[in-house]
Amino acid sequence: MQRVQQQYQRACHSLAGGVSSSTRKNQALGHAMYFARARGCRLWDLDGREYIDLCASHGAALLGHNHPRVRTAVLEALARGAPCSYENEHHAALAELLCRTVPCCELVRFTGSGTEATMHCLRLARAYTGRSKILKFAGHFHGYHDQVMYALGGSAAAERAEPPTGPFLPPHAASSGLPPGLDEHLVVIPFNQPEALEAACQRYGRELAAVICEPIWYNAGCIQPTAEMVRALAELPRAHGALLIFDEVLSAFRMCPGGAQQYLNVVPDLCTLGKAVGGGYPLSVFGGRREIMQRLMPEGDCQHSGTYNGHPVVVAAGLAAVQCYLERGFYEHITQVGTRLISGLNELFKRHGVPGHVQGLGARFGLYFDLPKPPLTDHDLLAHNRTLMLRFVASAIRHGVYLHDYGGGPCHHGFCAAMTMADAGEALRRLDAAIGELARDEISP
Ligand SMILES: Cc1ncc(COP(=O)(O)O)c(C=O)c1O
Repeated sequence: MQRVQQQYQRACHSLAGGVSSSTRKNQALGHAMYFARARGCRLWDLDGREYIDLCASHGAALLGHNHPRVRTAVLEALARGAPCSYENEHHAALAELLCRTVPCCELVRFTGSGTEATMHCLRLARAYTGRSKILKFAGHFHGYHDQVMYALGGSAAAERAEPPTGPFLPPHAASSGLPPGLDEHLVVIPFNQPEALEAACQRYGRELAAVICEPIWYNAGCIQPTAEMVRALAELPRAHGALLIFDEVLSAFRMCPGGAQQYLNVVPDLCTLGKAVGGGYPLSVFGGRREIMQRLMPEGDCQHSGTYNGHPVVVAAGLAAVQCYLERGFYEHITQVGTRLISGLNELFKRHGVPGHVQGLGARFGLYFDLPKPPLTDHDLLAHNRTLMLRFVASAIRHGVYLHDYGGGPCHHGFCAAMTMADAGEALRRLDAAIGELARDEISP
């Protein structure tokens, strides 16, 4: 990793923390990773080492890197001059496709990042309801804007480590720089406890503009809502006049074309789509019921604009990517590869006596260490062994499988549709060696 490490040292002189995104430093390695090229499910670092990618650009590369149809669409958009800040025929084509595919979308808008998408959804929910409070679940991640920088990962765990004082959790700030008083607009409760949602709706119902959630809680690995939780989400917020927002930045297109709302059979009022929607290019979307979306300017009074919104290159990439997701056999293949990887990894942990556990849905999965049972709530995650997770990630990378470490916390990993069953077998062979090494180190560290 000579050139990789040199590159990190060089970057530290001019990039804050050596990276363009705070979470990009892989703490298991002590530096960021530098990839010179990528194709399908493979990455090559600056030193020429090849890896099987189980990060998949944090979920953006659902199709695989450098997919030929996305590349062709991008090159065509560039050849046409890619004039940004204007509309072309691809915008309506992609919007139509999304409205046909994602159950709640009657109208959509394009943004750059998932962070912008959730920010605009929340503003729109407040504009539409005339209310100000937002309910979020502890540990659910909705991007990096101020409104939602509370009760995340480590801070949510700290909340749960404190003795609970009722169904409501204190909204611990997950960053400095947040203005005092902003958290007064937030109600935080644990996920998969429908009675907490009921209590919150009873107490704050008239003030709640929206309940926002990750319908599949991928930012804690992969935690699905219980049937009772699904029912509570579908019924309670709307019974109290609040909107239901599914943040599908990560879950969109992950397990079926209509995302988690199709999978769970719950149609929210608004949703976000991100990562996979752009086929590896920076496109995100928010959309929902016509009546709500019509509150956006220029028809309505709620602002959503941006110079780079719906950039022609990323819209062309998104159109090509979504067309691929709709092809016959796409999700059958994802399910086959996912089943092989997840069952194979669980077998390897068992065989080597390493206390790891994997659970997943569609093309993403969570890795947990030292948990007494498969996790369902944020409370269940408190026992997760971050040190073991970091050691596993470092060992996997040494053996040619790239995973991001997310500081050792329980977070999501995944694969792309370009991964064949043979690639999955090769990944498991490499992980067999990595877990074997981990087991030996655990016995004699
Ligand atoms: C559920 C969810 N919402 C929002 C975001 C923010 O998206 P972005 O990183 O594109 O701003 C993410 C990013 O991981 C996410 O997983």
